[in-house]
Amino acid sequence: MGTNLEQNQNNTIDKVLLEKFEEEIWNKVPHLENNEEGAKIVNATPLVDITSDFKECAKEIYKLDLSNSELQVYGKLDSTLLTGSIKVRPAANIIHDAIMTGKIKSGQTVIEATSGNFGIALGMLSKLGLQVVTIVSRKLQEGVFHELRNMNIKIMDLEMDICPAPGMEGKKDELVAKATAANVRSQLSQLGFDASIYDNSITEIESLLAKQDIINLAKLLSKIYNCFCPEQYDNDLNVNAHRTITGAEIDQQLHEDGNSLENFNILCTFGTGGTSGGLSRYISEKYDKKGVHVIFPPGGQDVAGIRTHNNADGLKYYQPDRYAGEYEVDFEKAKPLLKFFVDKGHDIGESSALELYATLQLASANKGNKFVVMICDGIEKYRKNLEKIGKIQPPRQVSQEEVASNSENYDKIIWIHTQYTPQEGGIELLAKSLGIDKSKIFVPNARTAQQLLSGQGIPDEINNSLQESKGKSLMVCMAGRTSLMAANVLAEKGIVTDSLIGGITELPEAGNSQLSELVKQASQF
Ligand SMILES: Cc1ncc(COP(=O)(O)O)c(C=O)c1O
Repeated sequence: MGTNLEQNQNNTIDKVLLEKFEEEIWNKVPHLENNEEGAKIVNATPLVDITSDFKECAKEIYKLDLSNSELQVYGKLDSTLLTGSIKVRPAANIIHDAIMTGKIKSGQTVIEATSGNFGIALGMLSKLGLQVVTIVSRKLQEGVFHELRNMNIKIMDLEMDICPAPGMEGKKDELVAKATAANVRSQLSQLGFDASIYDNSITEIESLLAKQDIINLAKLLSKIYNCFCPEQYDNDLNVNAHRTITGAEIDQQLHEDGNSLENFNILCTFGTGGTSGGLSRYISEKYDKKGVHVIFPPGGQDVAGIRTHNNADGLKYYQPDRYAGEYEVDFEKAKPLLKFFVDKGHDIGESSALELYATLQLASANKGNKFVVMICDGIEKYRKNLEKIGKIQPPRQVSQEEVASNSENYDKIIWIHTQYTPQEGGIELLAKSLGIDKSKIFVPNARTAQQLLSGQGIPDEINNSLQESKGKSLMVCMAGRTSLMAANVLAEKGIVTDSLIGGITELPEAGNSQLSELVKQASQF
């Protein structure tokens, strides 16, 4: 790899760690290597022409005839990479830099906030004698937890993926932050971290948790415990790995095939913005154009490893000016495609299916005919969800207008939240806005809501209420996320319910009242 040990002036490079890193990781991942012919990328992942299966899928599943088009679709199979995802590219580059600059040494601990794949990629470090702690704040699929554990990674689960309760006069955030901070403290203690060091920074920790700022929490914990934090959300090496390697690698492969990236559209999704940022920079620097199309699931849909548009906005590497296009694509519509491709033997994950479905829409609307789709990971972790495709009728997300104009069809409104419960004023507002009698609104206690969301079973109280209902049931919460999670849990048990978009806080007349007149902290545990 052409390592120059002199480059570190302080000579603090851990040479043993570097050697192990090169052998176990660097030599197995794509990187630039200089030889007599110049610089070339080695260990490239396959770039496979999937046009034929793509056209067949379009025809069979979506009744779209693309047979006459000049369509060409390549899949960039990063699912074949070490640890099974694209995230090993930034992880390897960040760790390489950290070793070369003496920031990381044998026996040290690495801490990072991750929704899965980056943590799994860091898991390769346990082979080098480094400990990895991941901070997880989203509801991850069981298969992802399984892989994290398999890779010997310590998981701190913040269990924060619950409906936010905005604006409770600032108090609510404080309460949630205190509870979560205590939870983190106890998990850290169990992992062997000194709790007194934590206690010295408690004010800062609680303030980060009140903002749900897990990215900076990872940085802070890393600082106080003298660990290394890769800072994937702010580290330019994340973007650069894709600019100098992934982009150049795809272009190199297309040229070997008599093509050029200049004539292709790349489709990718968004986690940290590393892939989209790096690839768009490569194309604009080399070909002076925009070529990257970024695909998001709509709000409320959870697609493994990636963010919705709202959750991307505000991150350092969310840079829409660099993209050729941004699209919101319904994952429910992409699910049959996922099943089709996996059944054909392609190892593709959920985010890849979203991109392929977006490609289908672009191709059928004549918006391009040459595409490279980033296959960021494979299906293994998501098998359990895959098995449900086609078997489970997903819940419908409905607006206040839709409910109000079909109010006679609704026989039950079930409030669902783990921390807040409606006041009399909230019940009245719900009844009035939705056009449904107050007597049809059922408010189980917060513990019952928690039980339902845990997915262990349907608590009797809720089951009885649903059984009583002769028409449709509507799940309602603060902002529309907890109710959707609950409706998904019910769907898995074969019970179809609807979920109110935006929850109580977005009802048209909610703005006329203080939030504290509508809801209060749940006390019944
Ligand atoms: C499955 C999957 N697809 C796509 C991405 C997007 O990658 P990036 O972080 O480069 O935006 C991720 C990121 O974690 C991912 O896990």
